[in-house]
Amino acid sequence: MKTASAISRSALFLGIFAALAAALIAWTWNSTKADIERSVRAAEARQLLEIFPENTHDNSLIDDRFVLPANTPLLDLRKDRSGYTVRRNEDVVGVILPATARDGYSGDIELLIGVTADGSVAGARVVSHKETPGLGDGIDTRKSPWMLSFDGRSLASPSQPYWSVKKDGGAFDQFTGATVTPRAVVAAIRRTLEYQALHRAQLFEVEIADNPAAETGP
Ligand SMILES: Cc1cc2nc3c(=O)[nH]c(=O)nc-3n(C[C@H](O)[C@H](O)[C@H](O)COP(=O)(O)O)c2cc1C
Repeated sequence: MKTASAISRSALFLGIFAALAAALIAWTWNSTKADIERSVRAAEARQLLEIFPENTHDNSLIDDRFVLPANTPLLDLRKDRSGYTVRRNEDVVGVILPATARDGYSGDIELLIGVTADGSVAGARVVSHKETPGLGDGIDTRKSPWMLSFDGRSLASPSQPYWSVKKDGGAFDQFTGATVTPRAVVAAIRRTLEYQALHRAQLFEVEIADNPAAETGP
């Protein structure tokens, strides 16, 4: 009898210990998850503000988002991603669109492209990529200023035939020994501009006449 009660006491202690351990793990997981979510959100907000700095708008970009579904034509997204509306005095002065270049050297290159109300690029940033360090990773603004060469560009400047890398007769530099990566990014940004040209009324929340896109050289 004594042995039976000792066993049930041990079982009870073991049960309490297991429940406490499970509670501790759940608490740690929850607080880590919240920390990770907070830092992902902060990184995302930082990138949005690199494209449209504080002085260009008066809304919270990270909170003014809309969903663009996976496989949206021209944007080529693999999964649902957020787009962001940029407002000033209640006017939509820009949008930030996600796009995927599926033809990077080492797979998908995820991008964010800011477009102003006049249809020009406010800024473009790479969110993630797996390109080769020293060859294709110049698309990261921490490695090279190459992405800044899209600032102010539009479907009219350069005109369609020049929306490619110089090696293909276009307006944009490639990298030394690496043409595949910049070629993929140039094409993805051009497609994103085409997407916004097709959906301007919806994106900018007004009825807008067609994008004035006089064909000019680079
Ligand atoms: C190991 C290795 C890694 C490479 N990584 C890249 C890369 O990340 N991006 C890229 O554009 N080219 C990369 N290249 C070079 C491409 O294979 C290709 O030669 C170059 O982009 C020129 O392409 P093109 O002949 O179409 O102009 C890599 C080549 C090797 C051997």
